[in-house]
Amino acid sequence: MTAPHDHATATRPPYAGTRYPRLAQIPAFTDFVSTGWEDVPAYPALPEGTAAAAAAHRSRLSAAYPGRTIVVAAGIAPIRNDDAAYGFRADSSFVWLTGCQVEGAVLVLWAAPGGHDAVLYLPRPFRPGDTGFFADAAHGELWVGPSAGLPEWADALGVAVEPLDGLEQRHGDLRDAHAARSAAHLASAVGAEVSTELERTLSALRMVKDEWEVAQLRSAIDATVGGFAAVMSEVPRAIGDGLGERWLQGTFDRHARTFGNGPGYSTIVGSGPHAPILHWVRCDGPVLPDAALLLDMGVEARSLYTADVTRTVPASGTFSPAQRDVHDLVEKAHRAGLDRIRPGVPYLDFHFAAMEVVAQGLHDWGLLPVSVDEALSPEGQQHRRYLACGIGHHLGLDVHDCSQAQYEDYMGADLVPGVVMTVEPGLYFHAHDLTVPPELRGIGVRLEDDVLVTDTGSEVLSGALPIDAAGVEAWARTHLGSGS
Ligand code: GLY
Ligand code: MN
Ligand code: MN
Repeated sequence: MTAPHDHATATRPPYAGTRYPRLAQIPAFTDFVSTGWEDVPAYPALPEGTAAAAAAHRSRLSAAYPGRTIVVAAGIAPIRNDDAAYGFRADSSFVWLTGCQVEGAVLVLWAAPGGHDAVLYLPRPFRPGDTGFFADAAHGELWVGPSAGLPEWADALGVAVEPLDGLEQRHGDLRDAHAARSAAHLASAVGAEVSTELERTLSALRMVKDEWEVAQLRSAIDATVGGFAAVMSEVPRAIGDGLGERWLQGTFDRHARTFGNGPGYSTIVGSGPHAPILHWVRCDGPVLPDAALLLDMGVEARSLYTADVTRTVPASGTFSPAQRDVHDLVEKAHRAGLDRIRPGVPYLDFHFAAMEVVAQGLHDWGLLPVSVDEALSPEGQQHRRYLACGIGHHLGLDVHDCSQAQYEDYMGADLVPGVVMTVEPGLYFHAHDLTVPPELRGIGVRLEDDVLVTDTGSEVLSGALPIDAAGVEAWARTHLGSGS
């Protein structure tokens, strides 16, 4: 045991009262810290096929902008406080074009005869001999660990790589460039404009996924299905130990971090009266034993492609009759929506098909103040009181992928093979909604699947999770309490 500290006899430490030493200004220190380090090889860790996919994406963008220089950046994490930044997540279009996730990196497609010369400008890691090695919390290897250098990145990505600080000498050449929003800092430094048209084009190009991207989405979705099982197995603990929604949210987020990059969006866990709250990301309530539990969760893979899946499960393993009725109606709308997904069909058809089922069902339950036709008309929409959100979107590197596309390229377009989208109808009866009978108040049900448009029809990529009430109950019972 150590002796208790004797305050009476303790002496002040040497040099107490002098100013805090600035290490970079002390030659004895900088000399010493600069040498005596073994070389630690570091190579970018990239999912297989990343470089080829990114090169193909650059070719598609290049073809859309003959003769125009284009700038897209990875972005920089916002500062939370002092030198503590929020977690960095690279811009999705930048990742689509490069496969690179390095903070601060910039891609320039320099206009060249017959196409573009792609150059990736990367911040150099600070190594022994650089002041930043010990003084730069963002890029110093003493702070962030061994990092791949520029030659390793060039090799891994098959693209020309140059130091970021070298780009300053070419600022004049960037004045007429099309800059993406992610490169706004650079655009304002060189007097270029951020191009809305470039954002639209990138969104439109990213809508059609190639085989590699579909494989990334499959792996994100498979990991998500595993995450649903992990969460379900913790439900008894969340109830019995009073750990609540927080525990289940944390369980999924840990799973996502372990088997992917992390959650692809804020995980939603809503028990009972929280289930109808569309984006219940507070997740600070109890898990109620007899209530339906809405789980909207997606793993973002290490390539940054994300899943987006929702199931509403009985915490007890068995739906109450009212919960089951609502689930049945949502399932019917879901199937109607899924049935409309195939090439050549207008994107919005799934929306109108599902909404028709919802409006008819609500009418049959006496909840609509107007006829089904009036509700479905553009001037009505009364049924949307119980379903105010959208019921699907493109999915990819972003959960709401390609959101900058023009109406004609997205809502107004026909489906084509390679589109990946969600279908996610729901019914949301809030606990304080006086228009619904008491037995329905506080019930929220959403079914959300991720769907690939194929050459001949569609494939539900998240089909490993059941969508019918009996199947959901059986699945829930299999996993309830199966955790350690
Ligand atoms: N989780 C967000 C969404 O479903 O769109
Ligand atoms: Mn969604
Ligand atoms: Mn979702």
